[in-house]
Amino acid sequence: MVAEHLAVLPARPVWQPVPDAARAWLGEQDLPETGRALDDLLDDVRARVLPHPMGNGHPRFFGWVNSPPNPAGVLVEPLAAALNPSCAGGDHAGPHLERSVVRWLADLVGFPHPPGGGLLTSGASMATVICLAAARQRAALADGWDAREEGLSARPPMIMYVTEEGHSCLHKAAQLLGIGARNVRTVPVDGSYRMDMAALREMIAEDRAAGLRPFCVAGSAGTVNSGAVDPLGEIADVAAEHGLWFHVDGAYGALGVLADGAAPHYAGMERADSLALDPHKWLGVPVGCGCALLRDPGAARAAFSLVPSYLVDDNADDLGWFAEYGPEQTRPFRALKTWATMSYLGRAGITRLVDHTTGLARTLAAMVEQAPDFELLAPVTTSITAFRHRPRPDGLDALNRAIPGAVQARGNAFITGTRLGGREALRACFLHPDTTERDLAVLLEEIRLAAKGV
Ligand SMILES: Cc1ncc(COP(=O)(O)O)c(C=O)c1O
Repeated sequence: MVAEHLAVLPARPVWQPVPDAARAWLGEQDLPETGRALDDLLDDVRARVLPHPMGNGHPRFFGWVNSPPNPAGVLVEPLAAALNPSCAGGDHAGPHLERSVVRWLADLVGFPHPPGGGLLTSGASMATVICLAAARQRAALADGWDAREEGLSARPPMIMYVTEEGHSCLHKAAQLLGIGARNVRTVPVDGSYRMDMAALREMIAEDRAAGLRPFCVAGSAGTVNSGAVDPLGEIADVAAEHGLWFHVDGAYGALGVLADGAAPHYAGMERADSLALDPHKWLGVPVGCGCALLRDPGAARAAFSLVPSYLVDDNADDLGWFAEYGPEQTRPFRALKTWATMSYLGRAGITRLVDHTTGLARTLAAMVEQAPDFELLAPVTTSITAFRHRPRPDGLDALNRAIPGAVQARGNAFITGTRLGGREALRACFLHPDTTERDLAVLLEEIRLAAKGV
């Protein structure tokens, strides 16, 4: 069934709305009183589940940041379920393999890797919670108090800096950790949607003068809107100067450092205190698998370690259990699908995938620039092209806001929208190894056709 599903997928519509009857069956079932035969369940999966995919397996899916599953990852998923370990820690395959995989990820993107310097997570949102919790506790301990013990009340507000293009998971993590939305400063961006460094410096100076406690600056290595990479080396300088924790959100884009000629854009990423990156994005590891990489793993352990008597492991090595470095106790065997995907592709295959998809984004940008009825809205740094349709001089915001839904409904391509620089924008994100230049032409034609109907 898996092979059949993957084989027929490219010939089917990219996406279709779920019909009412199917939605009702999926969403409103009653729990069976008695158990059902496995064959019956598989019949249901074939007839009622597989026909309604999100679309991200298709080579003309360009929405958000959602990749197709790598076949090696798909292959080993049932085996991870059959083993069904908890990778909280202990002496079994899961935690040992996770050590290798995390080291591979760090090595791939050129991030320093001390022993135990990272862990796999559900995604980058959870990785960000771990990294910012480590940052918060480090700042508190440096000031002579303990945020875990005391909570944040009665202390000067801790201030974090992130650009207006920073991902929402940075804000959610700061809110969850009690930093407070009002203490997350929105740093303006330049014309390329990268952090405005003069503004960052001014904001830090103002906050210090007001008696606040700047503690963290978060740069992006690949924003979700346009794929922009912040000036990471300059951010590292400012962080070092002011004793701030430097976090990089490379959830989507960290792997972009592998693209031909891209390394200079990423200079400084290796100086971060923490880096979030998502194997379930560009690498194509089946959802969900994120990763938090830490320059000092002890900082995450200081933020999370809590070992009750029933979890003491006298045989553990100095690094202890993964569960001491994050909020999860029972942890799935994420390492197996990540190991399989990375082994199957190898460094060369991963680099080819990144080169191919960044090349598609550049080609689409060139096509957009040559077409009188399209406009490029941001430089291409990774594998995202941000642009808009401009078939007439006015009403462009309303038109471009309506286009993604209209394109999606036609079923021949899938694109999503955003707001960029105060304008409604279209963005195409390339992650699929089988997408071709011909698919780019289809996308532009689909946008033109869809726009006529809105
Ligand atoms: C740039 C960026 N950062 C963070 C995230 C959050 O990652 P996740 O969805 O794996 O939690 C995403 C998700 O799309 C992203 O694109």
